Amino acid sequence: MRVLSVASEVFPLVKTGGLADVAGALPAALAGEGIAMRVMVPGYRDVLGALSGATEIHGYASLLGTPARLLAGTAGGLDLIVLDAPALFDRPGNPYLTPDGADWPDNWRRFAAFCRAAADVGAGAVESFVPDVVHCHDWQAGLVPAYLHYAEPTAARSVMTIHNIAFQGRFPASVFPHLGLPPQAWDVEGVEYYGGVGFLKAGLRHAGAITTVSPTYAEEICTQSGGMGLDGLLRQRSEVLSGIVNGIDTAVWDPAADPNLAANYTAATLPRRAANKRAIAEAFALTPDDSFLFCVVSRLGWQKGMDILGECIDGLVALGARLAVLGSGEAAIEGMFRAAAARYPGRVGIVTGYSEPLSHLLQGGSDSVLVPSRFEPCGLTQFYGLRYGCVPLVSRVGGLADTVIDANLAALDRGVATGFQFLPVEVPALTRAIARAIDLHRHAKAWKKLQQNGMKSDLSWGASARRYADLYRSLVA
Ligand code: ADP
Ligand code: GLC
Repeated sequence: MRVLSVASEVFPLVKTGGLADVAGALPAALAGEGIAMRVMVPGYRDVLGALSGATEIHGYASLLGTPARLLAGTAGGLDLIVLDAPALFDRPGNPYLTPDGADWPDNWRRFAAFCRAAADVGAGAVESFVPDVVHCHDWQAGLVPAYLHYAEPTAARSVMTIHNIAFQGRFPASVFPHLGLPPQAWDVEGVEYYGGVGFLKAGLRHAGAITTVSPTYAEEICTQSGGMGLDGLLRQRSEVLSGIVNGIDTAVWDPAADPNLAANYTAATLPRRAANKRAIAEAFALTPDDSFLFCVVSRLGWQKGMDILGECIDGLVALGARLAVLGSGEAAIEGMFRAAAARYPGRVGIVTGYSEPLSHLLQGGSDSVLVPSRFEPCGLTQFYGLRYGCVPLVSRVGGLADTVIDANLAALDRGVATGFQFLPVEVPALTRAIARAIDLHRHAKAWKKLQQNGMKSDLSWGASARRYADLYRSLVA
């Protein structure tokens, strides 16, 4: 079986969040299921620069108004199909944002062209790779099922995966005539969404199957508060909706071999983590003592509950703990952490920006990783924490609810706990959870058990890859 995975970012070539990790890990995970997956990505500078052995497999004199071509090649260990359209993608910086942090004003055209080309591959435009299934990720790939639906009938089936329903790809009605869709697509049964065009909406309307990245999030998005406007459509399509939890790349995230760590370790050699803790203290300008160390590795935004964490810092420091924050995002939240670092020199440290090496080091040396998200479709940082013996402290929402076992008395008794959960996502509940973690840490044996439980939990793609494979097969059957 052949599957075209359509994603706007893919690790290790371009990454702004967990979507890239997932898109990058799926091909290897599915190869074990006998599925040949190619990833289709836009030809950003970083992608074209990394591509080797590229051959042109399709050309367009005009793809939604701009010359373009499809290249096949490999990069970062992945088989790629790249949409080379310089007018759309040969730009500096982030895949979605201008260097000033605003959305590129022509994002609708950039990703509509990307979707159009992916749908063409789905419809058989490239003889050497005719997919049975087109697997579309998030709004940037949302128009693919619509293009397939309104084109000549083809064999290719489509799957739409929601990694985050907060990002929907909504654009004004004025873009519709430029999308190359037939007039009847302008309809609630088509791509129309609250008077404009909805890319994700279009995908959810027309895909053969819909998935999201955890069972709990699959339920949450069918409710009015979790669906962010799309819950009605999702309830209508609930028969084809399922939640498949993400896995992680256990080779990239392996504390025994991770080159980003000062010291490598296993569940049997946890004391070696101390060297990583010292390296963190140095990188984040913290006092190099033995006190409890929390870390954050996150986009800094409303979803992630960082403003709530900000309000808990005084309490955290009063309990004798330290906090290291690695993140980028909203200036106000960065400012809040910076102010905390100034208030508590040596106790709170922040590094802003994006650093893959530091994100590994933090997991390899901190005692606990904080993930106080207001909502979280799956979340990957708690997995990395589990894998690295960096005990996750998370809100009980979405994928966080599904993947961390709270250290309540019953779970501790049965020896199955892997972390801490709290709800509601408010200051008092988070403050209590922080205190609970610091308390349990005083019991060295119980803490070690918590770490080891996490480290031995199965975080690989195995079971989830099988579920995707079963889903593809059921669509093709
Ligand atoms: P989301 O995709 O919503 O941002 P996830 O937890 O699924 O959340 O994935 C976040 C990914 O991005 C993880 O791989 C995490 O390690 C990484 N990450 C987030 N912020 C940073 C940062 N500032 N530097 C390095 N890696 C980061
Ligand atoms: C999104 C979600 C995150 C999820 C990731 C990969 O960015 O916010 O929870 O882990 O996609 O599926």
